[in-house]
Amino acid sequence: MKSFYLTTAIDYVNGSPHLGHAYEKVLADVIARFRRLMGDRVFFLTGTDEHGQKVQQSARARGIAPQQFADEVSAEFRALCAKLDVSNDDFIRTTEERHKRVVRDLLQRLFDKGDIYKAEYRGFYSTRQEQFLQEKDRNPDGTWPEIFGEVTEIIEPNYFFKLRDYQSWLVGFLKQHEQFIFPRYRQKQVLEFLAEPLNDLCISRPRERLEWGIPLPFDEKFVTYVWFDALVNYYSAVADKPEFWPADFHVIGKDILVPPHAVYWPIMLHALGLPPPRALLVHGWWSINGAKMSKSTGNFIDAAEFADRYGVDALRYFMIREMNIGQDSDFSLQLFLTRYNSELANNLGNLVNRTLNMMTRFAGGIVPAPEATSSLQNIWDKTRDEFIKLCEGFQFHIALDRVISFLTETNAYIELQAPWKLAKNTDPNTAAVLRNTLATMAEALRLGATLLQPVMPSTTVKIQTALGYTPGPVWRDELVWGAKLTGAKLQPALVLFPRPDQEKK
Ligand code: MSP
Repeated sequence: MKSFYLTTAIDYVNGSPHLGHAYEKVLADVIARFRRLMGDRVFFLTGTDEHGQKVQQSARARGIAPQQFADEVSAEFRALCAKLDVSNDDFIRTTEERHKRVVRDLLQRLFDKGDIYKAEYRGFYSTRQEQFLQEKDRNPDGTWPEIFGEVTEIIEPNYFFKLRDYQSWLVGFLKQHEQFIFPRYRQKQVLEFLAEPLNDLCISRPRERLEWGIPLPFDEKFVTYVWFDALVNYYSAVADKPEFWPADFHVIGKDILVPPHAVYWPIMLHALGLPPPRALLVHGWWSINGAKMSKSTGNFIDAAEFADRYGVDALRYFMIREMNIGQDSDFSLQLFLTRYNSELANNLGNLVNRTLNMMTRFAGGIVPAPEATSSLQNIWDKTRDEFIKLCEGFQFHIALDRVISFLTETNAYIELQAPWKLAKNTDPNTAAVLRNTLATMAEALRLGATLLQPVMPSTTVKIQTALGYTPGPVWRDELVWGAKLTGAKLQPALVLFPRPDQEKK
């Protein structure tokens, strides 16, 4: 059995989660569920990034200890994952002992091998971004862009990691591993960034300025720079499961590709003699009216609240169907409702209703044995093969489109066969056609719903239950057109996608 290790970015705990955070976790969940159904042994990690100045400041503003503050916000992120049916196998917090131990051990190893040195640092620091800025970051008029918040000049001794020594290794690595970053065009952006000489990375903060961090093992007067701390989570979570390293995919947003994930992280691992991850999957941003969704600007959707109103699976479906991984997407209620009505309620929901209703009326609720092949079968084979290829290539939005087309074909088949007319005719040949039509509808619904499982897990289970069917844990022969439902007793009705209450909008 192939092992498959998948991670998400770990979220800062200085603010509550919004739909952008939720999307990333759901996207990774869809991949994890898909890989499990394909038969892989999956380890799926998510978690929270809890050290640093912002958390220290937010806690101070509330008059509580940073740990208590982090505990509260981390619990919100964890609860959101549970609410959205995210099937993570582990949830790591950077304030946990198991993580801190590994960070300190890796730092000590780099220090012992001479990759970390002490020097005086002078620079402009952005607290909001937790990073030192460079002259090229300034606006043409000399001011700092708004995204950096308050910027202060700092002169202090610090520890540095010899990033520059590994620059040519990284360039060679990226050229050899053209598939390291998905989508591919982002790999070019990294190489462009690497065309300029790298500065060594300042990996410490003096404790008098920042208390809330992991003390350096070789100088306790300093704490570890948050990015050096946070990136290690991917490794510390599987420190006792070496079979999962290297990770197959780190799922991250485009804002944290360069330099942390595409430059610092592979170099840190290489310097430690550890293999880098196999690939980075980089998604774009959700925006509202064109502006990035973000808690600090107040421009955001609360994913938990939205799921309460419109359904967890409907939200999961919309996010995965709407976003082409890598590009940005604008979120609007109108767009959501259009897809909800046309693709979920009127297509899938309608097929479920008709199948259960007609089986109950015309066959006593028991699925008859199929008696002939149908043209839907060929459409199914093509749909399934394309769907799997598209998911393997992270084209989930198109993969879902294929399923919807298959459901549309199935509804059209029902219209054409018109079981309600067939049922009026007592001729034995017509009765046979009716039985076959009902068996075909049920089988098409079973198969279509099966493909939706990674994206809408609880909806799929509801449909399977209504069809009186319990699938196996992996796909394999679950996706073969056949007679699995023959003799199954169907429920008479199932409401999956109620009309959203217009009043509440
Ligand atoms: N703590 C760092 C990541 C450390 S990973 C070792 C961080 N945290 S974050 O909370 O700011 O962002 C977490 C993830 O959410 C990132 O991948 C980021 O791109 C993603 N998103 C935050 N806002 C987003 C949108 N509006 N849309 C989509 N994803 C966005 O960065």
